[in-house]
Amino acid sequence: MQHSQMIAGAILVVCLIPTADTCGQEKTTEDKTAQSARPNFSDHIKPILRRHCLKCHGDDKQEADINLPTYSSLLKGGSAGKIAVAGQSSQSLMFKAITNSDAEARMPPNSPPLSKVEIDLIRRWIDSGLRETATGKSMAKSRDLTFLPASNAGAKPEGPPAMPGDLAEFAGPKVVRPLPVLAMDTVRGLRCSRSLLKSMFD
Ligand code: HEC
Repeated sequence: MQHSQMIAGAILVVCLIPTADTCGQEKTTEDKTAQSARPNFSDHIKPILRRHCLKCHGDDKQEADINLPTYSSLLKGGSAGKIAVAGQSSQSLMFKAITNSDAEARMPPNSPPLSKVEIDLIRRWIDSGLRETATGKSMAKSRDLTFLPASNAGAKPEGPPAMPGDLAEFAGPKVVRPLPVLAMDTVRGLRCSRSLLKSMFD
C-alpha cells in the first residue's frame, strides 16, 4: 500500500467514527468552495466578481453596459444582451469572456486570468442553473428525456419517392475497348491464353 493510500485510509477510518466531528475542519475555504457541488451567486460567485470585475463592471463604471455587483444586475446583461444562459456555460458571454484564449480580449483585461478554481466555479454555477443562494432554485430547464415516436413512424411515406429534381446533363467519358476483355482461367494458369492471343493477333 502506498503511503498516500494509507493516509487516505486512516482519514476515512477517523471520519467513520461518529464522534469525530472535527473531520474536515482543517480544509481551507477555497477547498470547500471548490467542492461545493452547487455553487450559488451569494456564496461563491459574488466574491469572485468583487475581486476581479467590479472595478470596471460595478456601480462606478459599467463597461459594455455590464454591471455585476448584484444577482439581478448580472442577469440583466449588457449592451450585447444576456451574459449568462442558465445551464449553458459554453453559450454564456460571461464564461467565454473569462476563458477567451486571446489574452487581449479575455476578462479581466490586462490581468492574469482567473484561477482554475474560480473558472470552474463560474462554469458550474452557470451549468447548474444560476442559483442565487444555497437554497435558490435552478433556472436551468430540466431536460426532457421522454421519447415519443411520431404516430406514423415506420409507415411508408405517401406519394412518389423523393427524387432529385433538376440534375445537370452528364456526359461520361467514352470508353474505347479495341479488344474484348478476356476472362482467363486463373485456376489452370494461363495455359489457354497463349493460343487465344495468338488467334487474335495472327
Ligand atoms: C479593467 C477593466 C475591466 C475589468 C477588471 C473587467 N472588464 Fe469586462 N470589460 C471591460 C471592457 C472595457 C469591456 C468592453 C470590451 C469591448 O467592448 O471590446 C468589457 C466587456 C466585458 C464583457 C462583454 C464581452 C463581449 O464580448 O461583449 C463581459 C461578459 C465582461 N466584460 C465580463 C467581465 C468579467 C466577468 C470580469 C471579471 C472576471 C470583467 N469583465 C472584468 C473592462 C473590464
